[in-house]
Amino acid sequence: MNSEILTQTFETYFNAKPDFIVRAPGRVNLIGEHTDYNDGFVLPMAIDHAVWLALRPRTDGQVRLFSLDLEADEAFELNSLTKGEGWLEYPKGIAYELQKFGYSLTGFDAIMTGDVPRGAGLSSSAAVELAIARAFSAVSGFAWDAPKMAKISQKAENEWVGVNCGIMDQMASAACREGHALFLDCRSLAIQHAPLPKGVSIVILDTSTRRGLVDSAYNERRTQCEEAAHWFGVKALRDVCLEDFNKKNKDGLDENVIKRARHIVTENARVLEAVEVMKIGNIKRLGELFNASHESLRDDFEVTNDALNIMVECAREQESCYGARMTGAGFGGCAVALVNEENATEFVDAVSTAYRQKSGLEAAVYVCSASEGASLVQG
Ligand code: GLA
Repeated sequence: MNSEILTQTFETYFNAKPDFIVRAPGRVNLIGEHTDYNDGFVLPMAIDHAVWLALRPRTDGQVRLFSLDLEADEAFELNSLTKGEGWLEYPKGIAYELQKFGYSLTGFDAIMTGDVPRGAGLSSSAAVELAIARAFSAVSGFAWDAPKMAKISQKAENEWVGVNCGIMDQMASAACREGHALFLDCRSLAIQHAPLPKGVSIVILDTSTRRGLVDSAYNERRTQCEEAAHWFGVKALRDVCLEDFNKKNKDGLDENVIKRARHIVTENARVLEAVEVMKIGNIKRLGELFNASHESLRDDFEVTNDALNIMVECAREQESCYGARMTGAGFGGCAVALVNEENATEFVDAVSTAYRQKSGLEAAVYVCSASEGASLVQG
C-alpha cells in the first residue's frame, strides 16, 4: 500500500486530507511455536504486509471506519461499547481495553485497508489491533509504548474477541524493527532485536489451506501444556529444561501430554540456539533448527496438516533451501523457508510448481522482508 493512494481515497470519502496515516504489520514466526503461552521464547519478524489507516479526529466520541477490503462502513461510540460480531470487534476491543487502562480517547474517521492474508498464520488480527491502537495514540495524543500496547491488544483479543492467544503476535506487530527478528522472552517481555543473517531470504509459503474451526484444538494444547507444567511442579513449561524433562518419572502422565511437553521443552532450546547461530551467521545450523522445529510440531505437538507437510517437503527438496517449517498456530496456513538469497527467485518458482503437482493446490510463495513494527507514517 502506498500512502498517496490512501490519501486520495480518504479525500474522495471525506473531502479533506487525512491528519494521520498509520500502519501495523503482520508477522512471520521464524522459530518458537506455541512457546509463548508457556512463558517461553519466540523469534518472529514483522513482514512487509500490513494494515493501514488514514484518519482524522472527531469531536463527538464516535469512531467511524470504512474498510476498503470488506466494503464496509461501520461506527461505534467510545462511551457506550457493546459486544457484537464480526471484524468491528477488534477495534471495539482495543477502544474498550485502552479506556480500561485509563487512556482518554478521541474518536476518528478512518479509511482502513490491508494486505495481510487472513487466517494464514501471519497475524492479520494483531495487525488490525495494533493499527487501531496506533491510530488512537495519534489522534488522542498519548505516547506510543509498544510493549504496553501489545499487552492491551492481547487483552482485547482474549477478553473482548474471546480468542485465547499468547503475546507473540501483538509484540511482533508492535515492537519489531526493520531488518531484524524480535527475540522475545514471553515471561519477562524482554526483547532483543536480532539482525537477520546476510545472504538469506525469508520465504513465506502459503499452502492456501486455512485453519477453520481450530480454537478448540489450540485451547486443548494449552490445557495439556498446563497439565504437564503441573506434573513437573513448575509455573510454566519454560521452567523445564531437556535434562529435567528426560530425568523426571512420567509414569501415569498421559502419552499426548508428554509429547506436547517435549515439543515445548525442545522448541525453547531451539530458539535460544537459533539466536546464537544467527549472531555468528551459521545459516546451515539455523536451517537445521527450522527442520527440527517442524518435525516436533508435526510429531509431538501435532498441529501440522498434510498441506503443510507437503509444502515443507517441496521446499527442502530445493538445493538452495537451508530449512523449512510451518509457522503460526498451524492446522493450515503458511510455512516459512530459509533460502540462499542468490537463488530465491528460482526457489519460488520451483516450490510453487512442485507443490501444485504434489497437492493439487495453488500456493502463494513470496520472499518477504523484515519490516518495522506499528508506526506513524504521516502526521
Ligand atoms: C497463534 C497465537 C500466538 C501463538 C501462535 C503459536 O498465532 O496467536 O499467540 O501461540 O499461534 O506459536
